[in-house]
Parts: sequence; C-alpha cells; structure tokens
Amino acid sequence: MSLEVIVLAAGQGTRMRSALPKVLHPVAGKPMLGHVLDTARELAPGGIRVVVGHGAEQVRERLDAPDLGFFLQAEQLGTGHAVAQALPGLDAERVLILYGDVPLIETQTLERLLARVGPRQIALLTVELDDPTGYGRIVRGTDGQVQAIVEHKDASPEQRRIREGNTGILAVPGERLAGWLQRLSNDNVQGEYYLTDVIAMAVADGLVVATEQPQAAMEVQGANDRMQLAELERHYQQRSARRLMAQGVTLLDPARFDLRGEVSVGRDVVIDVNVILEGRVVIEDGVQIGPNCVVRDSTLRRGAVVKANSHLEGAELGEGADCGPFARLRPGTVLGARAHVGNFVELKNARLGEGAKAGHLSYLGDARIGARSNIGAGTITCNYDGANKHRTELGEDVFIGSNSALVAPVTLGAGATTGAGSVITGDVPADTLAVGRARQRNIEGWKRPVKKKPV
Ligand code: UD1
Ligand code: CA
Repeated sequence: MSLEVIVLAAGQGTRMRSALPKVLHPVAGKPMLGHVLDTARELAPGGIRVVVGHGAEQVRERLDAPDLGFFLQAEQLGTGHAVAQALPGLDAERVLILYGDVPLIETQTLERLLARVGPRQIALLTVELDDPTGYGRIVRGTDGQVQAIVEHKDASPEQRRIREGNTGILAVPGERLAGWLQRLSNDNVQGEYYLTDVIAMAVADGLVVATEQPQAAMEVQGANDRMQLAELERHYQQRSARRLMAQGVTLLDPARFDLRGEVSVGRDVVIDVNVILEGRVVIEDGVQIGPNCVVRDSTLRRGAVVKANSHLEGAELGEGADCGPFARLRPGTVLGARAHVGNFVELKNARLGEGAKAGHLSYLGDARIGARSNIGAGTITCNYDGANKHRTELGEDVFIGSNSALVAPVTLGAGATTGAGSVITGDVPADTLAVGRARQRNIEGWKRPVKKKPV
C-alpha cells in the first residue's frame, strides 16, 4: 500500500524564547525536524510533506531536499487545519502524520503503527501517562474500542481521569482524509480545527481505530521548552551509548559520552569520559580514545590511539597511529600506520608517512612528510605568504632539527637533515645537512650592563 508522510512543523514554540524556529532547535547536533525527516525516510514513503508556518523560510532553507514538499500554513488554526494544507495532490493509500518537534520517534514503532492501518482502519499511537495533563484523552467504549479523542481543555472531569493520552501520531486511509478534514469545525474551547476530531468521524463512518504504543514514552515526547529539549538530548545520548556498548564498545561512563552524528565502530573500542563524536566517524577495532576529545568527520584505523584533550576534524589515523595529548588535527590530516603526533602539534592538510613522528609543539600545514621522518620540537611549516599557500615536501627518513622554520614551497630529499633553529628557504638534496642560522660567536670578557644608581 502506498504511503505519504505529513510532518507538522508550523508552530511557533513561544516557550523556547528563541529567534530560531522551534523545529530547528538541535538534538544531538541535528534539528529536531531533521530527525523526524530522517526517520520518515526510513519508511521509504512516496513523499514527505512538511507543513511550515513560523520561520517557514528558515526551516525550508535549512532542510530543503528533493524528496520534500513544503506547504505553508500562514495562520496556525489547529492541527486539522495544518494537515489540510498538505493535501493538494496527495494520492496515497496510507497517510502518516508526524510532528517536527517530536524528534525521537523510532522507525520500528512507526512500522508497527503502519501495519495496522487499512481502508477501514485508522492506526493511532497512544501512550499511558502518569500525568496526562495537556494531552488529548483516548475515550474508549464499554467494548474497549476507541470512540473519540477529547482534548484536555474540552474534557470533562471524568474524562480527565483517563491516563491513555494521544501522542498525535496517527496513520489514516488516504482516500478518507480530505472528506474528514472538510467536516472539521472549530467549535471547541480553543477555537481550533482539531485533527483529533477525525477519530470520532472515522468511528461514525464505521471504521475501527487500532492503537499501538511506543517502546518508551520519550519517543513521543515533544519539546516545548529548553528543559524538555535537554531531556530529549539526554535520552538520545543514553540510547546511542547503549547501542555502542551493545556493539562491543567500552564507554567508561555512558553518561559522559555524546554522539552528534553517525559512528561506525569495530570491537574492543575504548572511549574515556567526555568524548564528543560529530559528523561521520569511523572507528575500527581496538581504537582507544582518551578523555575530553572531540572527533569530527574522522577515521581511526585499527589500534589507533587518540590521547586526552585532542581535537580531530577531517582526519585519518592509520593503523596503530597515535596522537595527543593536546593534538589538533585539522581537515586533510592523514597519519600513516604507526605515525606519532605528540602534544601541542597542529596539522592541516598534511600527511605523515608510516612511522613518521612530530612529537612536540609543531605546525605542519600543506605538507607531505615521508615515512620514518622525525620532526623536531617547534618545527613550523611557513606555508602562507600572506596571499597564497605553498607546499612543503619531505622525503623518507628526514630529520628536522628542533625549532626549524621550513619556508614553503620547499622540498627536502630523503635522508636530509636540518640543524636546530634553521630557517630553510631553499630545497635540500637527499642525505644532506642544511644549516640555515647565524654561526655562534663567543665574546670573551664581555661585561653585562649594571644598574645605574639613582641620582
Ligand atoms: C496535540 C493533540 C493532542 C495530543 C498532543 C500531544 C490536537 C488537537 N491535539 O495537542 O491530542 O495529546 O498534541 O502533544 O491535535 N501545529 C501546526 N499548526 C497548527 C497547530 C499545531 O503545525 O495550526 C503543530 C505544532 O507545531 C506542533 C503540533 O502541531 O508540532 C501539535 O500542536 P500543539 O498545539 O502542540 O497541540 P497540542 O495542543 O499539544
Ligand atoms: Ca504540544
């Protein structure tokens, strides 16, 4: 049966107290609406229709994609009115309604729900709540069948005692939807066109309302303020920590681990506390990440070690390579197998060959360093002349003396050496020592200045 998804995302989110439209507030680094859209995509629907209103331009700009249709709800007249805006051209056997501010809904839950919708059956996601205040209540007949949904504000004291709440998520037979929405009235306490009134109409039309529940209540929790946003964030992070541990990762403290993107992990990976993984991260078997590291869009090959307080972005560590503590690896950094980068070393667009080392206090940018070369402490590639970037090329087994400045463009052949403190402005042939510094003078009998006596 064909499927289309409608995502409601027109609300203002006043309680966020924000210039950012509510659905763009991030959970795990991604807009809430982005989570909902990605989950919807996993259902492989024929189309995804997003109803936008407040901050419509901003929302569209941020999330536009070829598989999305955007529909403007200029005035927020209720959830039923919102869905109606997305109907033009809709021709699907099943329509699933989701919410842009309910980001943690899981694919499996939606699949269970969709298995229950049919030409003569609505599927409704409900949740049993300790405190259902504010929620629409699921009203069931003596036979246990759902009769209607009554909004909290419209509910009688007796109805308010019902603890089964409406999540808002439902799947309906597409051919019926337009007719029901046309018949909605706003004759209720809030003066809104309630999508929930569709349920009583469906029952009157002889349809059955099937219900499903989420695995966890947090799946259907919306974020109306920053406190709820933080709760969703925590829940998301707990969930990702559990998933990683189930895949064989040791997290020294799952409560102090944050994933803001996607990670693939091998076995026996150890991640210490306060590590943040962002973007797309690949971690192979036996990798260790020390405390307080940020790893973004990077690949860590088998057995690589990232020591405490390192910051990696767009980097690749080869097998058994290591970096840190306090390493900064910027985009285009590639460490060959068993290469070593120590503390306070910054690399950008730089390749270190197999077994090469840069142990301390260096900047290597736009550079290629051959295998087994050693970069002395304080070495700087002067890659920028104020207008253009230039490359530094080092062959294999090069030894750079401490505090050398390599003024690019410059090439050093295999086995070349530079004396400590050299400013290398010209190419150095293979197996040659280059010394580019003033010769030391010793001045015998030289007297230090002495302090003048005050007059
Ligand atoms: C709605 C449900 C209620 C349910 C609750 C769960 C209705 C009438 N009520 O109530 O049964 O228990 O959600 O949280 O559906 N929206 C629009 N355009 C509008 C109105 C709303 O896009 O004109 C969007 C909002 O941005 C929000 C969602 O729809 O994402 C729900 O709207 P909200 O006003 O929060 O509905 P509730 O009163 O909470
Ligand atoms: Ca709500």
